[in-house]
Amino acid sequence: MATPVIAIANQKGGVGKTTTAINLAVCITVLRKTVLLIDLDPQANATSGLGIEKTPGNSIYAPLLGEKDIHEVIQGTAYKRLDLIASELDLAGAEVDIARADNYLHRLREALEPIHNENRYDYILIDCPPSLGILTMNALTAADSILIPLQCEYYALEGLSVITDLIEKLKTSGTNPNLEIEGIVMTMYDGRTNLAQAVVQDVYKHFGAKIFDTLVPRTVRLGEAPSFGKPIYDYDRQSVGAAAYLQLAKEFLKRRSSGEPKTFPFQEQGLNAAAEEQTPEARQG
Ligand SMILES: Nc1ncnc2c1ncn2[C@@H]1O[C@H](COP(=O)(O)OP(=O)(O)OP(=O)(O)O)[C@@H](O)[C@H]1O
Ligand SMILES: [Mg+2]
Repeated sequence: MATPVIAIANQKGGVGKTTTAINLAVCITVLRKTVLLIDLDPQANATSGLGIEKTPGNSIYAPLLGEKDIHEVIQGTAYKRLDLIASELDLAGAEVDIARADNYLHRLREALEPIHNENRYDYILIDCPPSLGILTMNALTAADSILIPLQCEYYALEGLSVITDLIEKLKTSGTNPNLEIEGIVMTMYDGRTNLAQAVVQDVYKHFGAKIFDTLVPRTVRLGEAPSFGKPIYDYDRQSVGAAAYLQLAKEFLKRRSSGEPKTFPFQEQGLNAAAEEQTPEARQG
């Protein structure tokens, strides 16, 4: 059976894609599933956030161009059940090279093919760069679903329509007819502000059950963990940030195992629970 591929994407920068990719991946492995995380962003934040050095030549770059088998660039991490395909700066050049290649949107899909037949991973997660360039388009072509981190801020919804339009285009054009929205994860949520609550409600009005119940709070700890090269579960397991991402991982697995759309209404409970968790530790981190 094919391994589910989930692209973590949003063309907007700094909304929590990488934080979600790293921490969701690690928390899924805490729940005893195996994950391959692909760092598809030339910034290589997911790579450094896991405490892994960038090595020239050791990224998805060559497999994308059909110059290396994907197995050659998979590496283990400090975390059991989590493997990584790292990024490196060269990946920035990949956009140009891939654009010249045949079938340029399907490069990642093709590179991943050998893994699908192996049953080695339960999930493949892809951390995308903040653009809708060729790398992200490759991720969306290879993916079964897209998980969209959305920062709880005023213009959140506007950016979202850009992604949903793109998903529709990829589907109707036949590039990826089965692409689904895995879900929307509200990030950097601060339950003390009316704005954050209003944004969540607004997104809920449009996307309903697509929003994960788990709201990821803004915490100092989540912000500082990457500078120690650690996911939050390792950096501070007792923190509210670690609890949130573990909760998100549970919700992710539960939704996938039940395969049922979530029922309305969820919101009041979810909001209050997150708001309570926010205080007072979240303020101090
Ligand atoms: N819940 C959170 N609480 C506090 N800080 C956070 C949280 N989530 C992310 N951050 C911080 O916000 C910044 C942006 O987050 P992140 O790198 O995950 O976003 P991104 O969408 O991957 O960014 P880019 O678009 O540049 O790839 C980082 O410094 C990160 O540590
Ligand atoms: Mg990022």
